[in-house]
Amino acid sequence: MQVAKIPTHVAIIMDGNGRWALARGLPRLAGHRAGVENLRRVITACVEFGIKHLTIYAFSTENWGRPREEVDGLMFILNEVLDRELDELHRQGVQLRHIGRLEGLPGSIQKKVRQAIDLTRNNDRLILNVAFNYGGRDEIVHAIRQMLADGVQPEEVDADLVSRYLFTAGQPDPDLIIRTAGELRVSNFLLWQGAYAEYYAADVYWPDFDKEQFRLALEHFSQRERRFGLVSNQLKAAAPVPGGAPASHPGA
Ligand code: FPP
Repeated sequence: MQVAKIPTHVAIIMDGNGRWALARGLPRLAGHRAGVENLRRVITACVEFGIKHLTIYAFSTENWGRPREEVDGLMFILNEVLDRELDELHRQGVQLRHIGRLEGLPGSIQKKVRQAIDLTRNNDRLILNVAFNYGGRDEIVHAIRQMLADGVQPEEVDADLVSRYLFTAGQPDPDLIIRTAGELRVSNFLLWQGAYAEYYAADVYWPDFDKEQFRLALEHFSQRERRFGLVSNQLKAAAPVPGGAPASHPGA
């Protein structure tokens, strides 16, 4: 079945790797490995569905507090993914970007991430934002510091300017944020950019979020009416607002 309305930007909180592994009597890292396998399938599905931006939450600023073995394992997996998957992503026309604090990652990973960004910079089938060492509050703090360092004057600050100081500068806000494993929490993900996003909670662990699950999420999205703080009749009367919400209309 064709999906009626394809979102431009989908963001995903890939939750449930640990529980997926536990349910099989496997170590948590086996769940993360299965999560990476699934990520590959979801990226391919994004290209097929015609989604232009995908943002994935791979490691939060809070995840440093996990057991040492798991943190090291996730770093190892990122390193491995960059070595193993980059050529194929490049071939698929994926442009890789990083959001979060790159400088907080081990030097060798920083270098590989920068090389991957550089290699894929002209690809335009799908922009893949990997949130690794990312936190929504940290992103806003970083933006404020940067504005102050640039000497931005108070009267120059508006929502557009703030957006331009975020890690996602220049990209549209997410239309749809999916969280797997049935949880109903934002968990510090895209706090600013998600202001008008539709949320969808999938009731399966991330490694089991397959193309059919993805299609279901898109079908739900298609049926939602996004009002951006207005009422239905106004939306029918007006042309779509480029770039999403009208800045002068607060609320949902
Ligand atoms: C949440 O599941 C998942 C994570 C914290 C990590 C997600 C990481 C990957 C899919 C692999 C790394 C990705 C890249 C791009 C290298 P959880 O561990 O919180 O699961 P639980 O809630 O069941 O314990």
